[in-house]
Amino acid sequence: MVEVEIQSSGKTIALPFRLALMTSEPPKRVHGLSRSATNASLREATAMESALGIRDEWLRLAAQGSQMGLWYWNEVTSELFWDAKSREMFGVPAEGEVTLETFYRALHPDDVERVTRTWRHAVADRQPYETEYRSRRPDGTSRWIYARGSAYYDETAKPICMVGVVFDITERREIEQDRLDLSGRLIKAQEAERRHLARELHDDFCQRVALLATQLQIILDAVGNSRSKVSERLRELLKTVNEFGAEVHSLSHSLHSSKLEILGLSRSVSSFCRDFSKQHKIQIDFHQTALPEPIPFETTLCLFRVVQEGLQNVNKHSRASRAEVRLVSSLTAISLMLRDNGVGFDLSQNYASNGIGILSMKERARMLNGTLEIRSSPMKGTEITLTIPLKNVHAAA
Ligand SMILES: Nc1ncnc2c1ncn2[C@@H]1O[C@H](COP(=O)(O)OP(=O)(O)O)[C@@H](O)[C@H]1O
Ligand SMILES: [Mg+2]
Repeated sequence: MVEVEIQSSGKTIALPFRLALMTSEPPKRVHGLSRSATNASLREATAMESALGIRDEWLRLAAQGSQMGLWYWNEVTSELFWDAKSREMFGVPAEGEVTLETFYRALHPDDVERVTRTWRHAVADRQPYETEYRSRRPDGTSRWIYARGSAYYDETAKPICMVGVVFDITERREIEQDRLDLSGRLIKAQEAERRHLARELHDDFCQRVALLATQLQIILDAVGNSRSKVSERLRELLKTVNEFGAEVHSLSHSLHSSKLEILGLSRSVSSFCRDFSKQHKIQIDFHQTALPEPIPFETTLCLFRVVQEGLQNVNKHSRASRAEVRLVSSLTAISLMLRDNGVGFDLSQNYASNGIGILSMKERARMLNGTLEIRSSPMKGTEITLTIPLKNVHAAA
């Protein structure tokens, strides 16, 4: 087999790739590397050589025609190689030496530490290296880069080199960012609308219902508290009006986040679960571990809205008799788990077309760099897990 060999600690190690791939022209001589044919007759080697030559040519053409850059890092000699496309992405001249320093200079300062960490972990854990970061070009522009690589090791597990590719994903990141901005604005608009509705309900409807109840009471008092049909009807009417008033009041509170601001997350969730359980006759068990203080309000609001939306779904769709709400916190994240013992649903079906509840839960999570996972299957109930990092390391994380 034709192999690329590399010298490490005086030994020769075969690598299953050809450096010819990395350059637009096959290299005549590359420092630290030599190529040899071993374990094969000359004819076989020549045939293999020409087959590999064709494959190299295909790959070179594919790389040239795509938005993919190639790179190679020699851990032993500390040499870095970038092909023309990589150089273009990092804003480095087409000719001349590139070193590790060139890479660090071309990297956005905010991403240096994370990229180094990811790289070192990948090499130490013998895992593929994969990350996204920003390049900073000399003309001041910046590009988003997706990088992948694999390391090669000698028999003592010492890393020898890493080969990889980079893609310019700026457009994709911009589209994602636009989408995120849009959903962020929609959710903010939804919150503003809710606040407006809550205020209308509280200041107008609740006042009018209270007035109606007072007037009914006055009439009832005037009729006399007798057992006559009229006073019976009036008493029933007064009860209905009071119940209606209480419902509008609680609706206005569930729409508005002011109570949440005053009570904080755990008391609001616990009180919401209690009221919801009473109102809908579903047993709801609420548990929590000690939560950190203070939790950013946007995190609190997200968790609370997911509890509300999740429990609405339990009531509306699950036919569950029991649900469980759990708030768990660690040093780095806060998680909400919401589980019911209902009929569940098929996640492979397009459930998102039914409504916007789950979609908006996901968008809320995404806006805070969190994740929302749903596990559900018919007849086995549904489980939603929302996790939000407590320190929001933005997009670059
Ligand atoms: N806890 C649940 N149990 C059973 N089905 C659920 C549950 N939560 C969501 N679903 C399913 O997922 C769909 C989408 O939910 P959602 O996005 O909140 O929209 P909506 O509640 O308006 O239908 C629901 O229509 C229902 O079929
Ligand atoms: Mg819903």
